[in-house]
Amino acid sequence: MNKPQPRTTRLHKPRRTVSIIGTGSYVPERILTNAELEKLVDTNDEWIVSRTGIKERRICAPGEHTSDMAAKAARAAMEKAGVTAEEIDMIIVGTITPDMSFPNTACLVQKLIGNKRAICFDLSAACSGFLYGLEIAQQFISSRACNTVLVIGADKLSGVVDWTDRNTCVLFGDGAGAAILRHRPGSHGVIHTTMGADGEFGEILHMPGGGSRLPVTKENIDEKHNTIKMSGKDVYKQAVTAMVSAANTALETAGLQTKDLACVIPHQANMRIIEAIGSRLGVGSDRVFVNLQRYGNTSAAAVAIALDEANRTGRMKQDDYILLVVFGGGLTWASSVIQW
Ligand code: UT7
Repeated sequence: MNKPQPRTTRLHKPRRTVSIIGTGSYVPERILTNAELEKLVDTNDEWIVSRTGIKERRICAPGEHTSDMAAKAARAAMEKAGVTAEEIDMIIVGTITPDMSFPNTACLVQKLIGNKRAICFDLSAACSGFLYGLEIAQQFISSRACNTVLVIGADKLSGVVDWTDRNTCVLFGDGAGAAILRHRPGSHGVIHTTMGADGEFGEILHMPGGGSRLPVTKENIDEKHNTIKMSGKDVYKQAVTAMVSAANTALETAGLQTKDLACVIPHQANMRIIEAIGSRLGVGSDRVFVNLQRYGNTSAAAVAIALDEANRTGRMKQDDYILLVVFGGGLTWASSVIQW
């Protein structure tokens, strides 16, 4: 008996290169300064700036949600890429603060941008969500399963921060960043992405409530289970080690060295972490992109907003090599080497 033939020859075609053809970002208008935080908790501007580098962060307006920010970032990326909503085959939203359990945020974004044909899903990898999404997009496009993918990192951490906990409330902010990926002939595009995770350390950065284990009940809310818990020092150590290692692996796999990089765009959580990574990788501060002084840590959005700002301010030219590197709860981490 003859073997059944595959319905598509897609799998037999050579893999395609995948490029970021447009970026966009959005942050809410409302600025929350360190001086304002001094009125909420026992903290001060000097402590926050010297320990973290953060001067202010953005906070959603009442009625403004993760999907609203994500859709605004998406529209900006689509405009930059010259892509219409109907051309998008897949929407991935990296987020730990979806509007609701379901529908997923990607479906909400799909409706807001006016797309009817994309596959839509959220990706929960905390601050690593955008790069995890980038790699999934890369795989789907290079295998020819999709042509155009919209990847978004969006988080509204102001809704899950304990505003009485000075250890965490000074660190986080709201925002969204987006990228459109597609095959672009003549460029290497996303050359390699290294991804990793270690569930052993899950409890050093987590939000225990709101899921099936500690559902939304009055008691669980009173116990503040639906807010971010973090052991800052442990996260700090893990973040530096994991990001340096991921960046080195990504570079080695891509056959590049740090001297080849025009720009390094790290997760925006703490200036001291960023400096430690730069120094261990041997990359001077002039090649490291930083905007956390204005936005704080916006989780999955952080590296996506930074990528868009670096793009818009001309930090990389066409064909330059750049490196993105992220770390977040899970623990999760990732690093991408991209030819722009
Ligand atoms: O996206 C990934 C997620 N998170 C991160 O990457 C965060 C990683 N960790 C960090 O960025 C740092 O560990 C923090 C910024 C969170 C903390 O900095 P630290 O140098 O590790 O400070 P610490 O936690 O050791 O605290 C030092 C002191 C403590 O007081 P005592 O115990 O020495 O008296 C804290 O209670 O600073 C105190 N403190 C504060 N003081 C003023 C903690 N938060 C504050 C604050 N204002 N907001």
